[in-house]
Amino acid sequence: MAAITFSSAGATGHSAYHAATAVPPSFKAFRICRGERVRAGIANVSLDELTPGEVVLRSAYAGLNYKDALATTDHGNVIRHFPRVGGSDVTGVVVDSTDPRFRPGDAVMAYAGGLGVDEDGGFSEYVRLRAARVMPVPDGLDLLEAATLGVAGFTAALAVHLLQESGMRPEAGSVLVNGATGGVGSMAVDMLSRLGYRVSAMSGKVDHDDMLRRLGAAEVIRSGSIEDCAKPLERARWSGAIDSVGGTQLAWLTRTVQPRGVIASVGNAGGNELVTSVLPFILRGIRLIGVNVSFYGDLEATLWQRLATDLKPAHLGESAEIVALDQLPDRIGRMLAGLATGRTVVGFQRPHGIAFTD
Ligand SMILES: NC(=O)c1ccc[n+]([C@@H]2O[C@H](COP(=O)([O-])OP(=O)(O)OC[C@H]3O[C@@H](n4cnc5c(N)ncnc54)[C@H](OP(=O)(O)O)[C@@H]3O)[C@@H](O)[C@H]2O)c1
Repeated sequence: MAAITFSSAGATGHSAYHAATAVPPSFKAFRICRGERVRAGIANVSLDELTPGEVVLRSAYAGLNYKDALATTDHGNVIRHFPRVGGSDVTGVVVDSTDPRFRPGDAVMAYAGGLGVDEDGGFSEYVRLRAARVMPVPDGLDLLEAATLGVAGFTAALAVHLLQESGMRPEAGSVLVNGATGGVGSMAVDMLSRLGYRVSAMSGKVDHDDMLRRLGAAEVIRSGSIEDCAKPLERARWSGAIDSVGGTQLAWLTRTVQPRGVIASVGNAGGNELVTSVLPFILRGIRLIGVNVSFYGDLEATLWQRLATDLKPAHLGESAEIVALDQLPDRIGRMLAGLATGRTVVGFQRPHGIAFTD
């Protein structure tokens, strides 16, 4: 019988749990299987069925990322070995650890690096993790804030950081963020506007202008208004851009970025292809930089510290829709259809989540 109580924020801002007993014999998880087709749903699992690790946590929150949604599709090719518990980020409280760095009661998190892909992930009431991928929830963030940021927030922060390192300054002009209502995009809009940049938000959704302006966008541009034009260069408008869509939107960005402007290519929610020409590069000196969280372990500490301070989205508290684990299949369907807005976070505590297997 698990007996874990939840009380309000402690001195560090972390929610305080009291882990009293062992993990129950079975608990609920969102598991992805493959027969003739890929199938996913809520299953009862036991700790022994999860991939090995030194640290067991009782999950508090787990964010839904585009890759988690893609992993449930036949065409996604995200997961190689099935069955797999999905979810590429999670926060929670340690209930058991054979690694001396972590003790029961510690508020911790894990994200990316194959979580929910090569190892069982965060969409589970209990998660078993290799100690090497577990980190304390950073000072200045609580369990919900850290999960709301998750992979999406870290990716947005990395893109912003790399653009700043590339010399993008607020006085140079507007920065375009596309997929702006999505997880990465909405965080990027919020972070950039907090840093004093003028943000132009691009979205395919017609009814989210208010949301984007509230996050700090100075203008909203419909992605449907851009033309797939044959001209190699169009009016130069952006000092920089964060692209989480790819395809025709990224091609359009290469044609519309100012001389010496920088585009951070983050995602492919709208397609893998990029059809452009060398002219923006050799005539305007634009730069296209790739963003992949897996290759920036050296920036992890810096970026989480920034995420807890100057890059902490001003509207972080409003940006998560907290759902129960059994609502996940529906939310995944919406995300794959391009209908997701902001961050969707599975909440495992009452009143948000399904009841724990007490
Ligand atoms: N490189 C990395 O390390 C890294 C890390 C995290 C995520 N990513 C990638 O970044 C992208 C965004 O991730 P996310 O978690 O923010 O996803 P998300 O919440 O689903 O946001 C994606 C947004 O892209 C826009 N979009 C345009 N065309 C779309 C289409 N055909 N299908 C779906 N969305 C479409 C939509 O915004 P509007 O309706 O506002 O246009 C949508 O909300 C994904 O490709 C993901 O794989 C990369």
